Amino acid sequence: MAERTPVAVIGAAGFGGALCARLAHAHPSLELTAVTARSDAGRRHDALYPRHGVPLTMEELDPDRIAEKARAALVAYPHKAAAPAVRALRERGLKVVDLSADFRLDRERYERWYQPHEAPELIAEAVYGLPEAHRDEIRGADLVAGPGCNSTAALLALLPLSDLARDVVVDIKTGVSGAGREATTETHYVSATENVNPYKTEGHRHSAELEQELADGVRITFVPHLVPMDQGLLASCYVTTEPRLSTEEARALFERAYAGEPFVDLIDAPPRTADVRETNRCRVYVTTTGDRVLVFAAIDNLWKGAAGQAVQDLNLMLGLPETEGLQ
Ligand SMILES: NC(=O)c1ccc[n+]([C@@H]2O[C@H](COP(=O)([O-])OP(=O)(O)OC[C@H]3O[C@@H](n4cnc5c(N)ncnc54)[C@H](OP(=O)(O)O)[C@@H]3O)[C@@H](O)[C@H]2O)c1
Repeated sequence: MAERTPVAVIGAAGFGGALCARLAHAHPSLELTAVTARSDAGRRHDALYPRHGVPLTMEELDPDRIAEKARAALVAYPHKAAAPAVRALRERGLKVVDLSADFRLDRERYERWYQPHEAPELIAEAVYGLPEAHRDEIRGADLVAGPGCNSTAALLALLPLSDLARDVVVDIKTGVSGAGREATTETHYVSATENVNPYKTEGHRHSAELEQELADGVRITFVPHLVPMDQGLLASCYVTTEPRLSTEEARALFERAYAGEPFVDLIDAPPRTADVRETNRCRVYVTTTGDRVLVFAAIDNLWKGAAGQAVQDLNLMLGLPETEGLQ
């Protein structure tokens, strides 16, 4: 049997990191050798998340110790906290997939939407980790930035139209796990249940990823809505194009773009979040009405929108089959 690559998950007590740990632990070509946490350090991961079945004790992050145990790391910290941890691991030679926003954007965009960058010297080496758009670059990368969950679904809905798109309205419905483990006044049960609310209506940071990844000059309106579900995300995208496209022409663009994509399913009816739950799949439906192309893309925000895609990226970085551990 080929030697498995030792991997650490940094921030394994959070929602994204916990699923990274489960996927790495169950992966036939990876060996999960360390999981880190802060307040939960000293506790077994499977005591905190029994359903993930990871029988390791969480430890505080010590980059030197991690470097002795792992050749690659999945980092699942919030933005700003991620960059110094990524730097420490890269300095010790580990390949890193970072789930946060810290390495998704060029410096100007990042500092416009977030804050001064904590490790700007690493931005140039980071590759945007959407395999459907950057597969070859990801293969050669040592640092990959996992895209945002909203951006993943929206970009998979929009990239085949990118060169023709003029005006794009992106309406996102997202589950509460997208906001992470810590409840806020907006995300605790009483606020979220029996409720749907738009948020960040005047500008959400994930629209910066669309701006960066889509062709110049596309006008983007991006509005997320929090809906009372745990995991799941639906991007409904309404697009004007030049020239105007028939349904058949629009679908042909998607068929060409996604032929052979292992995790993108072009389907002939609107997708439902329940059908992608606990999978790394994105289900996409394309149609037209009036002068707009309508594209709907459904993902599980913690899988294709976070941990699943991070493992897909790591597979590519390590020269493993892209779908390994994700079927
Ligand atoms: N949730 C999603 O659907 C999703 C999708 C795509 C990308 N992401 C990104 O993935 C990252 C993790 O998201 P998540 O949803 O897993 O968040 P989360 O549940 O809040 O987990 C983040 C973990 O990071 C640790 N942490 C928090 N603040 C820290 C700090 N200042 N320094 C060091 N560690 C800190 C915490 O560990 P302790 O509990 O041990 O303190 C926490 O468990 C974020 O950058 C997020 O934007 C999330």
